[in-house]
Amino acid sequence: MHQAVKRIAINTGGGDAPGLNAVIHAAVLAAQRRGWKAYGIRDGYDGLLKGEEGGVIPLDAEIVAGITAIGGTILGTTNRGSPFQCTLADGTVVDRSEELVERFRAAGFDALIAIGGDGSLSIALELHRRHGLPVVGVPKTIDNDLLGTDLTFGFDTAVNTATDALDKVVTTAQSHHRVMVVELMGRYAGWIALHAGLAGSADVVLIPEIPFDLDLVCQRILAQEAGGKHYSIVVAAEGASPRGQQLLTLEPGRSGRQPRLGGIGRLVAREIEQRTGKETRELVLGHLQRGGQPSALDRLLALRLGAAAVRLIETGQFGHMAGLHGQRLVPVPLEEATRTLRLVPLDSDIIETARDLGICLGD
Ligand code: F6P
Repeated sequence: MHQAVKRIAINTGGGDAPGLNAVIHAAVLAAQRRGWKAYGIRDGYDGLLKGEEGGVIPLDAEIVAGITAIGGTILGTTNRGSPFQCTLADGTVVDRSEELVERFRAAGFDALIAIGGDGSLSIALELHRRHGLPVVGVPKTIDNDLLGTDLTFGFDTAVNTATDALDKVVTTAQSHHRVMVVELMGRYAGWIALHAGLAGSADVVLIPEIPFDLDLVCQRILAQEAGGKHYSIVVAAEGASPRGQQLLTLEPGRSGRQPRLGGIGRLVAREIEQRTGKETRELVLGHLQRGGQPSALDRLLALRLGAAAVRLIETGQFGHMAGLHGQRLVPVPLEEATRTLRLVPLDSDIIETARDLGICLGD
C-alpha cells in the first residue's frame, strides 16, 4: 500500500493557457477533501529555488474560490526556465535540479502536480527519473500538440478567440476587396490554424505540417477574384513555411528556450500582394490567443484534470499525467507523453474536411 499523502505542491510551467487556475482550483479542493494540505510554488520552480519568503503559498478553498473563470495563473508567473539550466547573475548556466528536489523534500512535500506542456512535462519527468521526485502531470498547451491526450486545455479558448478574430476580419476584407493574412499561434502543429480556419471560413490555411507553395496560394486568390469573390482570408500558423524554406524566427532561443517565431504572416502577405496585385494586409493575433477567460469547455477539462491529478497521487502513479482518451481521463506515462509532439496527421478527418470544403492548404 502506498503511504497516505499529506502535503502536495502545485506548479505551473511554460506558456500560460486559459484554464491553469481551474486546474489549481480542482486540485486544491480534491486534496482538501482527502484531508491533505495543498501549496502553490510561485513562478515555476523559482519559488522553491530562490528560497524567498512567499515562494511557496498555502492554498485552500477560500483562496481558490472563483479562480476557475480567471485566465493566467494565481501562482505568479508560469516561467519557462528549467532547473537543469539555471542562469546565474554572472551568466554561467548551472544544473540546480538536485538542489530543487532537496528543497522540495525539506519543505515536507509528498507530491508535486506539474501543470505544463511538452517542455515542462519533460522537466518533470527528468526530475522524477534522476532524483525520484514524486510528480504527476497535467497536460497544458494552447497548441494542443501534446501526445497522450486527445485535447489540452487552453486550446478551445484559443480557437474561439482566433475564430472570433476571423469573423471580424472577414467584414473588413469584404469592405476593401482585400486579402487579409492572419498569423496564428502553432509552433510545430497547426491545430489552432486548422480549427479556427475551418470555423472562421478561411480560404487558405497554412500549417507547419504541410510546407506550402506560394504560387498555389496566389492561384487560389486569383481564381476567387475571377469568380467574383473579391476578398480572401488566409490563415497561417506561425510555424508554417514555404516549401524548401526554414522556419521564420524573430529571436534565437536562449538558455534552453525555443526560438521566438514570427514573420510568416508578413512574408505571405507581401508575396501575395506582389504576385497577385491584390491589396493585402496582415494581422498577427499573438498572445491574445493565450489570454482572457477560459471557455466553458476548457474550464471543465481543466477541473477534471486537476481532480484526476490528485487521484493519480492517491494511487501512487507518479511519473504519469492524466490524459483524455475519448471521453475518459486515463493515466499516461510522462515518458510516452513527451516522446514526440502530436502533429496534425495528414490523413486525419480535419484535413479531409478542409479539402472537402475547398480550403487551399498550399499543397
Ligand atoms: O507554447 C505555446 C505558444 O503559445 C506557442 O504557440 C508560441 O510559439 C509560444 O508559446 C510563444 O511563447 P512566448 O510566450 O514565450 O512568446
